[in-house]
Amino acid sequence: MLKNIIIDTDCGTDDALALLYALDSDKFKITGITTVFGNVTAKQAAFNVSYILRLTGKENIPLAIGQEKPINQPLRHSPPSIHGEYGLGTITSTYMSKTLRSITAVEFIIDTISKSKEKITFLSIGPLTNIGLALTLRPEIAENIEEIIIMGGAYLKNGNVTPAAEANIYSDAVAAEKIFSSPCQVTMVGLDVTTKVIMSKKYLETMSSHKKYGAFIKSLTSTFYNFLSENFNINGIFPHDLVAIFYAADKSLFKTINGRVYVNTQGLMLGQTYIDRRKKYIKGTEWDNRKHSKVCTEVNAEKLLDEFRKF
Ligand code: BDR
Ligand code: CA
Repeated sequence: MLKNIIIDTDCGTDDALALLYALDSDKFKITGITTVFGNVTAKQAAFNVSYILRLTGKENIPLAIGQEKPINQPLRHSPPSIHGEYGLGTITSTYMSKTLRSITAVEFIIDTISKSKEKITFLSIGPLTNIGLALTLRPEIAENIEEIIIMGGAYLKNGNVTPAAEANIYSDAVAAEKIFSSPCQVTMVGLDVTTKVIMSKKYLETMSSHKKYGAFIKSLTSTFYNFLSENFNINGIFPHDLVAIFYAADKSLFKTINGRVYVNTQGLMLGQTYIDRRKKYIKGTEWDNRKHSKVCTEVNAEKLLDEFRKF
């Protein structure tokens, strides 16, 4: 089913895989792409998105540059050893799409969601700063949001930045907490599922001969592959953000649980996603008004990788 979707990205390696699939597969109606700091600056992320829009021949899609820093905590970018100096492995992109809008991502998000005749699915694959600010400035847009799908957080797994926190949530914990305490339907596609999907060395070699995108995928993934194999002895890459795109495209590949989620916004546990799974409890605390989110716990990794191989 086609979805009306806005993708918000800090365009690094796995974001690029997610965008390639979303743009090429025709499974979505992409209403716009917005960028945010994270793996790189929001401006560099826009250069990277522009590169992919040109590569996929989808330069009709509006693009807007978003926040360069978190709402209320120190700025953190991913080290260049993970996604490469400019976020796309060994590729340098300085091309900007003609569809770049002169308004900010926050303005674009508010404008697009409030004017849309159909509800919008918001897919966040970077820190949640843009949508966090949009919902703070104009809370009523929540009514026209179908779902906010987040690549971020961890339930039973440790984090990947600190023991407690996954990178996207850690980078702007205040923004993430705004989303989980909002009235929106939120789904967390976190490390519990994204680290179950591994693109092995062999898989990446096969993808490197993809007739349209082989050369791109090869240059894109080599830095991330080297980082994981040298530091963690993993002979493959986790395509985190691609997994979230797959959730948006085909929920049957996933198992979820329901629970209220709280994001820790300070101290050593900054960015921890804490999930309340109790079915029965005594009311009378600040948790009462918090909506239940969906949290992905299982993924059919084999089928997901097969589908991506065929695209
Ligand atoms: C997330 O952090 C970023 O570095 C990746 O692009 C992904 O969105 C994984 O923790
Ligand atoms: Ca990302």
